Amino acid sequence: MTSPNANHNGAGAHLTSEAHVVVDVRDVSKSFRVSNRDVPVLDDVSLAVRAGEIVSIVGPSGCGKTTLLRMVQGLEVPTSGELTIEGRKVGPGSVSSGFVFQQPALFPWFSLERNIAFGLRLRASKQRPTRAEEADKVNKLLDLVGLTGFGAYRPHQLSGGMRQRANLARALAIDPAVLLLDEPFSALDALTRERLQRALSHLFASLHTTAILVTHDIREAVFLGSRVILMGSSPGRALSQFTVDVPHPRTEEFQHGALLGEISHDIYAALRRADAGPQSAASPLGAGGGHDNPSLAVRHDAATTTEQALEPELSGATLDVAYARKG
Ligand SMILES: Nc1ncnc2c1ncn2[C@@H]1O[C@H](COP(=O)(O)OP(=O)(O)OP(=O)(O)O)[C@@H](O)[C@H]1O
Ligand SMILES: [Mg+2]
Repeated sequence: MTSPNANHNGAGAHLTSEAHVVVDVRDVSKSFRVSNRDVPVLDDVSLAVRAGEIVSIVGPSGCGKTTLLRMVQGLEVPTSGELTIEGRKVGPGSVSSGFVFQQPALFPWFSLERNIAFGLRLRASKQRPTRAEEADKVNKLLDLVGLTGFGAYRPHQLSGGMRQRANLARALAIDPAVLLLDEPFSALDALTRERLQRALSHLFASLHTTAILVTHDIREAVFLGSRVILMGSSPGRALSQFTVDVPHPRTEEFQHGALLGEISHDIYAALRRADAGPQSAASPLGAGGGHDNPSLAVRHDAATTTEQALEPELSGATLDVAYARKG
């Protein structure tokens, strides 16, 4: 088991080690009661997300990624362990996070403007902006996500990509301490998805966003993440992490370049091992490997990658790899 503080000092957080911890998940486990039986879903997960970090999470279906995000949002309660945002315990009704779901969660009967302003109008009256302030904020958000001029449209009058951008604006409207994204682009075609990934990277750069992104798309996880955390299943736990030392906004060149391909390849290989079962997942080297020699764990190109054996930063973590842009 990882010591509660290990994730605050580990090598993987080196990029933003000066920044304060926004989301702190400490030794969190979660079981669901099904047919009079407690089914463990997450086992002792620890994760510290610092201000300005984008943490991508990938892992096999059913390993508990959505459950983890729902706990960060206060929609599920951990069975054990502690979860704080900006030092405050997360509980039902916490609104310090903005959530972007796989399917846009927009009210079909409201215009985009009303949808984006919805969270603002739920605020207690003292914190609620005036109508003029609200309109100003909504216009800025529409501009930010490239939907200027579409404020009066209803969701069904927009394309899927536009709806997801509106959904993003809606999540950002409440100035969340952390943005939570659960497979936000998975319903979109490949080109739209890539465009939106670049738009999101620009947005991260201009807003200094702190975010957790769950995705099945490993290239997306790498393109957007400052770190990519690989989870294993049965029960869900963090296995390893890959640090991507490339500043936002990330370019189309990076999106289609060799470095992203190389990191994705490594993560995909680790994911395949995790999917093959606990025994092979426990070893970053697969068959014949062991924890003693993690330097063999990834394909190595000294010009573009550096690699560090893990100070166990995450529970169950076996490997920590850092990548930096060439030159
Ligand atoms: N409310 C619930 N009651 C019982 N079991 C649940 C509940 N919510 C989730 N689970 C179980 O928890 C496990 C993890 O579910 P979760 O949705 O977090 O997985 P995931 O990693 O997001 O999967 P996917 O990649 O397919 O979206 C699954 O086995 C699921 O059946
Ligand atoms: Mg899920």
